[in-house]
Amino acid sequence: MNIDVAFTTGEISSKDFAYKSVIVTDILRASTTITTAIANGASYIIPVSIPEEAFAMAEKYKKGIILGGERDNMRIDGFHLGNSPTEYSASVVNNKPIIFCTTNGTRAINASSSAEKIVIASFLNISASCRYLSRQKDIIIVCSGKKGRFCMEDSVFAGAFIDFYCRISGHDVDKSDSAIAAEILYKNYSSDIPSMLQNCEHGRSLSQTGFSSDLALCARMDVTKVVPVYQNGKIISG
Ligand code: MLT
Repeated sequence: MNIDVAFTTGEISSKDFAYKSVIVTDILRASTTITTAIANGASYIIPVSIPEEAFAMAEKYKKGIILGGERDNMRIDGFHLGNSPTEYSASVVNNKPIIFCTTNGTRAINASSSAEKIVIASFLNISASCRYLSRQKDIIIVCSGKKGRFCMEDSVFAGAFIDFYCRISGHDVDKSDSAIAAEILYKNYSSDIPSMLQNCEHGRSLSQTGFSSDLALCARMDVTKVVPVYQNGKIISG
């Protein structure tokens, strides 16, 4: 089987997804927050790309839907929640649907939406995601990146995923050049993921805007077995 990595969403098109399992990641912070919300009992999450779409969709649901997401790291005006995993506790999201809109993460999910099934992965559920995909099917890991450009934290995660996947599945894996590069990055940072998150561009930006404590939350490894999957427009527990 083959594993490939797209470091940015600009590298993928729908033809790349045929017969493949797709993993979307946005370590800081959308895929970590989505994993947290689903683990805390959110009934489903609808990812949208722009706030206007979120407001229009919320109109259809009237009461009971949570609007969550960010622009420039901060809660969007008129939304109930921002994009910090701390906001998505069980007491807030259990049994509630969420419309979710972030700068890069939900765009990456929507850019991958022609795939049959998409797994949303983060360090929080890395082993569970590997086990979920352990049947032999080619895998493409889509990094959300930052405004169309490479970002360190998603690429390091892609390398970590490949490393975990090879050990957990026991499959013989053919790696693309980008997959090999991601693994090299992961090996460079594997002994100290929290520092990598503090020092990368978006980590520094989150610290400057008051979210430094989120970085440690996003670095936690294997704290849940929940695997969010995107299917037919909604993210649910897989
Ligand atoms: C994104 O989707 O760009 C991020 O999750 C931004 C953030 O850290 O809030």
